[in-house]
This record gives sequence, C-alpha cells and structure tokens, in this order.
Amino acid sequence: MRKVMLTSLMLAGGLVSSGLSMAEAPGNAAPMPVEMQQMMKTYTPALRQKVMALSPELKGTIQQLHAGHTRHAKETTLRQVMQEILSEYQSIASALATDNAEQAAEAARRLANHRIPKGGLLPYFPLDKINNTDLAVLPAMNEIVEGSALKLATAADAGDMPRAASYMSDIMTGCVACHQKFRTTPGVSANLMTPLSK
Ligand code: HEC
Repeated sequence: MRKVMLTSLMLAGGLVSSGLSMAEAPGNAAPMPVEMQQMMKTYTPALRQKVMALSPELKGTIQQLHAGHTRHAKETTLRQVMQEILSEYQSIASALATDNAEQAAEAARRLANHRIPKGGLLPYFPLDKINNTDLAVLPAMNEIVEGSALKLATAADAGDMPRAASYMSDIMTGCVACHQKFRTTPGVSANLMTPLSK
C-alpha cells in the first residue's frame, strides 16, 4: 500500500496560496480558504454549490494541493494541460531510451510541477464527481503521478537510469486511475446513432 502524502497538487486555480487564511463560507459552517473563495467566484452556481458542500478536511486538502504548483495558466484548459503532461511523459521516455539523465530529470520535474488550468481542476470534472467520496482519492493520485515523477528525477540525477525507468509505470498507473474516475470518454461524437459501449 502506498503512503498517501499531501505534497503535490492538481486541483488549483490561478492563485498562489498565501497559506490557510480562513473565512466563513456562506451557507456552510465549514471554513473556506480565501484562495478557494476567489476561485469560486469564477464558477457557475451549480459548481459553487457542490464545492461549498465539501467537508472542511477536503477543502483543506484541495488548498494544500493548490499551494504546491508554481505555474498557473491564464486561459489554458485542463485538457490542454493534460496534453502538456503527456508531452513531458513522452520526453522522459525519450530521455530514458537515449540515456539522457538531464533531459529525464528536467522533464519529470516539469511534469510534477505542471501548470494549473484556468479555474483549477474541479470545473473540468463531471459535476456528479464533486463530492467528498470521489474527490478523496485525489491526493493519492497526485502522489503516485507527481511523487513518482520526482523520484524518477532524483534517480536520474544520481545517474541510476534503470531505477529512473522503473517509475514510468507507476506514473502511468496514476494517469490511468484518475482517468477511470474523472475523465469521460475522449472525443465522443454527438452525431453517432449508437452509443459507445464504455
Ligand atoms: C487528477 C486526475 C488526473 C490525472 C492524475 C491525470 N489526468 Fe489526464 N485527464 C484528466 C481529466 C479529468 C481529463 C479530461 C479533461 C477534459 O476533457 O476536459 C484528462 C484528459 C487527458 C488527456 C486529453 C485527451 C483525453 O484523453 O481526454 C490526456 C492526453 C491526458 N489526460 C494525459 C494524462 C497523462 C499522461 C497523465 C499522467 C502523467 C494524466 N493525464 C494524469 C484527469 C487526470
């Protein structure tokens, strides 16, 4: 069983955290971090309502996840950020295959510190997944993706390419797990008569 650590972040909005300054969220006794309140102003009422209903623990977790990423997109969507992440993953693979430790380490660190899309992650999830149970898995998914990428970078720095390579499957396991839970089928056509089997 992997140890879950709340180090990385995938959930942020375009805001660098200045800590856990709290304020009361209207309609909910749970305190709401100020940064989240700012981000929520850009959300539709339906999404805002879902986010406000999250537990104080989860709000804190989301806030912590926000605080770790230093790069924040102005207009980029999650799907575009995901394409960037895929590019970094492919760059790591290329670097490992060519024994280029520096390229591997740098691409892995960029992957771990990927940009945060406009509005954070939540607006791009299906609305019915914005609840305490489903979102509780996020720290574990971040840890396996971003934590493994950072371990890969450390191994590459040390010149241990076999060890670096071994983290590739851990990273992809995290990509797949998160997609299973939060991603709908990519590129579904509204012009097909037969529904997809998935
Ligand atoms: C925190 C959850 C999460 C993690 C972790 C994650 N993804 Fe995604 N990914 C998503 C969601 C949600 C979408 C759908 C976004 C949309 O369509 O608006 C997505 C979409 C994508 C897409 C766009 C095309 C498509 O299939 O929809 C690519 C490419 C992608 N992810 C690659 C990756 C890779 C590579 C990793 C691991 C290094 C990864 N993702 C990790 C949640 C995640």
